[in-house]
Amino acid sequence: MLKIVIATRNAGKLKEISEKLKDYPVVLVSLLDYPQIPEIEEKGTTFSENAFLKASTVSHYTNLPALADDSGLEIDCLDGKPGIYSSRWGKTDEERIEKVLKAIQETRNKERKARFVCAMCLVIPKYPENRTLTSEGFCYGKITNFPQGDAGFGYDPIFMPDGYNLTFSQLGVEIKNKISHRAKALDEILPQIIAYFQLK
Ligand code: IMP
Repeated sequence: MLKIVIATRNAGKLKEISEKLKDYPVVLVSLLDYPQIPEIEEKGTTFSENAFLKASTVSHYTNLPALADDSGLEIDCLDGKPGIYSSRWGKTDEERIEKVLKAIQETRNKERKARFVCAMCLVIPKYPENRTLTSEGFCYGKITNFPQGDAGFGYDPIFMPDGYNLTFSQLGVEIKNKISHRAKALDEILPQIIAYFQLK
């Protein structure tokens, strides 16, 4: 059976990606199964560049197809920040959320529109050249005044997707996995993976 390495150690991402792929004939492993692979520095200037960097590095180390997700939160009144620096905005999710809420408050702007972005990249090691499949997904919404809900990870407690009165954390993984940036990016890359490997 086709084996794919999910190029992440983020348990939240892993759970969402595994759930989406559960009905496909693929065996999923992750960076948690390869502790010897060093931390990959996200040197890119875009989500897509960082996703490619992670997927190509992990595919190189494992000689397996590697699927990477680079994602983040772009907030309008903060000129798109934290963006590609979403995971580096603080040491913990709590610290990052606090920093975002404070930064928005300091702008004195009532406008709290934001979007989540996810770039996906699958690198397939193949002689003489790697093959690369890519996709992108977006989820639009707004930032709440304070954190609400327990499910999910990262900025989920302060992100309310358009069309809902609950945050991602309150909606839970099942609904999030139908409407999120990651779900949309996966919905776009999965048909490419199925076609490439001729999966049934
Ligand atoms: P990276 O893709 O590893 O650079 O990290 C992305 C960071 O963006 C995560 O650590 C979270 O802080 C944030 N993020 C990405 N996707 C989500 C999501 O679905 N919910 C909440 N936070 C997210």
